Amino acid sequence: MILMPSLLQNLLLTIPLACLASSHAISDSLGSNYKIDVHSHVVPSIWKEELISAGYPVKNGTLYTDGFPVPDWTLDAHISTMDSLGVNYSTISVSAPGVFFLKDAKKAKSLARSVNLLLHKYTRTHPTRLGALCLLPLPYVGEAVEELKFCLDTLGFVGVGLYTNANGTYLGDKALDPVFSALHKRNASVFVHPASPDCTSVAQGWPIPMTEYPFDTVRAIENLLLTGQRAQYPDIKMIFAHGGGAIPFLATRIAGMASLSWLGGLSVVESLAQLAGYYFDTASSTSAIQLTALKSFVGVDQIVTGTDYPYVPISQATSGLAAIEGNGNFTAVEMSQIDTLNALTIFPRIIKALKLS
Ligand SMILES: *[C@@H]1O[C@H](CO)[C@@H](O)[C@H](O)[C@H]1NC(C)=O
Ligand SMILES: *[C@@H]1O[C@H](CO)[C@@H](O)[C@H](O)[C@H]1NC(C)=O
Ligand SMILES: *[C@@H]1O[C@H](CO)[C@@H](O)[C@H](O)[C@H]1NC(C)=O
Ligand SMILES: *[C@@H]1O[C@H](CO)[C@@H](O)[C@H](O)[C@H]1NC(C)=O
Ligand SMILES: *[C@@H]1O[C@H](CO)[C@@H](O)[C@H](O)[C@H]1NC(C)=O
Repeated sequence: MILMPSLLQNLLLTIPLACLASSHAISDSLGSNYKIDVHSHVVPSIWKEELISAGYPVKNGTLYTDGFPVPDWTLDAHISTMDSLGVNYSTISVSAPGVFFLKDAKKAKSLARSVNLLLHKYTRTHPTRLGALCLLPLPYVGEAVEELKFCLDTLGFVGVGLYTNANGTYLGDKALDPVFSALHKRNASVFVHPASPDCTSVAQGWPIPMTEYPFDTVRAIENLLLTGQRAQYPDIKMIFAHGGGAIPFLATRIAGMASLSWLGGLSVVESLAQLAGYYFDTASSTSAIQLTALKSFVGVDQIVTGTDYPYVPISQATSGLAAIEGNGNFTAVEMSQIDTLNALTIFPRIIKALKLS
């Protein structure tokens, strides 16, 4: 199980880079300070109201999900925050728990549809600033496939949002094959947000996002490996939030265990290549330790800028963005990859939205 230290450096990247050349020219035309934030959230009031009806706690006037206060949000504040952060374009999504807190498939589908129509409205209001990521009514698979088609084929969304798990159904679960198949057919781009594990007592009463979100990201990536679902749909471009949680640190351990015969005897080299075959955003992952790990795990081509606004307040987002270049020891050229080029490679529909091609 001992890995040669040089192994990771020698891995071939599995990300297809077919449109890299054209993205390069386009990213040059946007200028070196163009910044795309792949991780920002909307908090529509219809969604908040459903959370409150479902029994999520409201303390002193503030709604809490996963033990974390849901911030106030307006579309205007989103745009003005982008301006003050120097963010040119944001992909917007709904944070956990999406709509998977609803027990009824019809209700989940109906709320997802209402929210997606709002996302569409926001992007129509600001077509050169915002791109929408579809909210799926998982774990209801049939409904989720229908909604994905509506968002991508009818509304023209730039991509799809997924969660590490939806009420205990993790990415990698066979039940989700129809969703992955539909994404694969469309070369869809996916942003994966962490969610709470089922068993919340593991958090000892502390806010779930603090450590359970990063660990849930590891669970989802590990499950995608061990069930073979990622191997079955390798071309879907997927971003995992927050630097991949703890995955840069744990990947060699997971690949080592997965090579044991009773766990399937997977090749360590192939497992590591797969675990590193995703994109990772920088939200709350801007320390020197995190960025050094991320850079050595996947390289600059697979790191994308994320803020997690408004859950991460503007002051923290500002200092986080400012820290990336120095803490990651990135050159100016590498920063424009992280800020612009990589996101354009993941989301070719942004290029269309900006009328650059
Ligand atoms: C309750 O909310 C008010 C108004 O937002 C705030 O001034 C006060 O400090 C809060 N109290 C507690 C106990 O959090
Ligand atoms: C991107 O945003 C920066 C900072 O707000 C601004 O200076 C620049 O002109 C913007 N670029 C484009 C192409 O809009
Ligand atoms: C989540 O799954 C559990 C079974 O694991 C079920 O009892 C519960 O009703 C589900 N909750 C929702 C909101 O669907
Ligand atoms: C998906 O991408 C592949 C390779 O990049 C391309 O050959 C194929 O035509 C694309 N399919 C769709 C539906 O866009
Ligand atoms: C930063 O990167 C440069 C190459 O771009 C390298 O020469 C230098 O040693 C690095 N510094 C640190 C502290 O890693």
